[in-house]
Amino acid sequence: MASVGFDKKTVRDVDLKHKRVLMRADYNVPVSKGKISDDYRIRRSVQTIQYIWEQYESSIVIISHLGRPDGKPDPLFSLKPVAERLSELLGKKVIFAADTTGPAAKAACDQLKPGQILLLENVRFDSREEKNSKDYAKELVETTKADVFVQDGFGVVHRAHASTEAITHLLPAVAGLLLAEEVGTIEKVVSEPVKPLVSVVGGAKISDKIEVLNKLIKISDCVAVVGAMANDFLLAESTPVGKSLVEKEVLGTTRDILRQAREEEKSRNFNFFVPVDVVVSKHPDGRGPTRIVDISADNIADIQAYPKQPKPQAYTVGRDELILDIGPASAARIAGAIKLANTVIWNGTCGITEIKGIAGAHDPFAHGTHTVMEAMIGPSNRHANKPFSLVGGGDTVSYVEEQGLTDDFSFVSTGGGATLELISGHKLPGVEALESKN
Ligand code: 3PG
Repeated sequence: MASVGFDKKTVRDVDLKHKRVLMRADYNVPVSKGKISDDYRIRRSVQTIQYIWEQYESSIVIISHLGRPDGKPDPLFSLKPVAERLSELLGKKVIFAADTTGPAAKAACDQLKPGQILLLENVRFDSREEKNSKDYAKELVETTKADVFVQDGFGVVHRAHASTEAITHLLPAVAGLLLAEEVGTIEKVVSEPVKPLVSVVGGAKISDKIEVLNKLIKISDCVAVVGAMANDFLLAESTPVGKSLVEKEVLGTTRDILRQAREEEKSRNFNFFVPVDVVVSKHPDGRGPTRIVDISADNIADIQAYPKQPKPQAYTVGRDELILDIGPASAARIAGAIKLANTVIWNGTCGITEIKGIAGAHDPFAHGTHTVMEAMIGPSNRHANKPFSLVGGGDTVSYVEEQGLTDDFSFVSTGGGATLELISGHKLPGVEALESKN
């Protein structure tokens, strides 16, 4: 197999001494009432900023988006809290300007001295950003008086926007250290995985994961579907799912994926795993009773109940119930596969992890996620056969962060959609636009 490598120029390949650097980051982080609940993306951007600043004494102007404010200013999506957090992380004041090409940004850029760092307001407050407008990109360059563009916002390079694509045609454009690390690592895992490779794919919507599933079925030794997305596969197998979240519109596609996976199982040593038991409740808020449904016994129950006896409820998801987690047998089976793996790709939690329990070590629908996660990282760092673990996806990463376990994984990606696109084998416009090494 051909060896992969990141072939774009990075900040290490250009002379940035005393230059004005315009850096694109992805600071799309969860903010509520001015408080950042997950700063992983901000922390991961520090290495590039520090490198440029220590190495080259440059002045750095950082741009980013946050949320989807619909092309107009909205204080709910302001990057001001990010400037404050970044200042704390760098141990150095990050100046904040309240617009991107208006008077505040112009004044701040004019006054910016070598060694200083400035963060501009959300680029998506301007409707031209998402239209990949050349005019907006030109205004950004003129306002910031930048000499070089550094792309370090891995999470957003799957978007061809003014601050990720159009701008690269106006300035020498190179990658930051985070971007190079993300692309290099993910491409290597996908093209040269140390086998056996186990992929665990979850999340709410199967429609977001179709391409990635198709790809992972081809390259993995085992693919386990979990989370709400697994409901679609249960439905495709005609298993009742009650009121669970499903995407009926893509049932045909789900059946195609299932068919392809079963074919793959016949043709080689491959296992496609759909949950055999699930945790259900009538109350997704975690306030009602829960029970485990053993789906695997459902067929036998059909026969046992023939012709008139009611089927034991233990085997079937009730009409008024929702599937909220995988069951213990499913979690144990996935964990068993992970313990035999040398590489694990994990994208999407196994159940709802946002709901807090009333008491206890685990949240009510996070047991499956915990069991699977523990198999990847071991109960402690001393786990003997620790596989290389690549984790991606906003919710999954937030959960790992919240548990304080980020450092226990081999690589935790900052990307959501970008990670999925890269695993699926797509080119990323914001990376393609950068200067090549050769
Ligand atoms: C993300 O969080 O996936 C990126 O920041 C991109 O955001 P978007 O999906 O709103 O373009």
